[in-house]
Amino acid sequence: MSSLGKKYIMALSGLALVGFACGHMVGNLQMFLHPDWINEYAYKLQHLPYGLLWVVRIVMLTCVVAHMVTAVMLVIENYKARPEKYVAKANLQASFASRTMKYSGVILLAFIVFHIMHFTVQNIHPEFLHLETTLEGVGTIHHVYDKLLPLDRTTVHDVYSMVAHGFSLKFWYVSVFYIISMGLLCFHLMHGISSMFQSLGLRNDLWRKRLDRVALAAAVFVFIGFASLPLAGLLGIIEPITPLIASH
Ligand code: HEM
Repeated sequence: MSSLGKKYIMALSGLALVGFACGHMVGNLQMFLHPDWINEYAYKLQHLPYGLLWVVRIVMLTCVVAHMVTAVMLVIENYKARPEKYVAKANLQASFASRTMKYSGVILLAFIVFHIMHFTVQNIHPEFLHLETTLEGVGTIHHVYDKLLPLDRTTVHDVYSMVAHGFSLKFWYVSVFYIISMGLLCFHLMHGISSMFQSLGLRNDLWRKRLDRVALAAAVFVFIGFASLPLAGLLGIIEPITPLIASH
């Protein structure tokens, strides 16, 4: 495959991942509303019809694998093409964010594996699996979600308390790890989004500065949206509504 083909794959898989991250971030921000919001939303996502949840999971996993494999191929290609004596010079010309993409990428992958064990598989705190609550059916959101997918029960997994427990002061080091990882995600997106414009042929000299600013603003927006949750947990702004029962 040509270098251009690989850059297209990087850009398009990256775009799909950024889209997922933005949707996930907005979904998470429901934590700042009544617990019903995130609990009803999470229940409905888990019970989407026609196995849609697995379709989305498989598409996202394919994007992660494609993004990683092409990144490794491009790194090897660049390394081979680089004459020895220019190594130092080439390194100096590239920005710090662009030179560290491979490291921030690997750490983000480790973050995602930990995160899925933490909140999806819940094997880091098996007690999370037993958190249940009864929906009160508050606010307009219930009616909006209910139109999309009628709710067939009122007792659901208490995702609100799971996240609040997960980010509580007791596990402060987990929140710190999340905040640092979100900083790295911001850094990765800063360079990633602007090189995506380049790869898709949307960037020229006139627009370079403006698009770089768009990339910076998007990256900072994603950082604030995600990092606000572990920070709110540390500050006691979000508190569990269901206590943890130790698992045997
Ligand atoms: C503070 C930041 C975050 C919070 C509070 C958070 C919260 C959650 C929660 C509660 C779940 C489980 C939902 C459920 O099973 O009901 C989840 C799943 C997941 N999150 Fe996050 N998330 C955060 C950041 C991220 C980031 C930055 C990424 C990647 C870009 C990410 C990717 C995922 C993935 C891939 C899943 C699994 C979805 C599935 O297949 O079920 N999360 N997250």
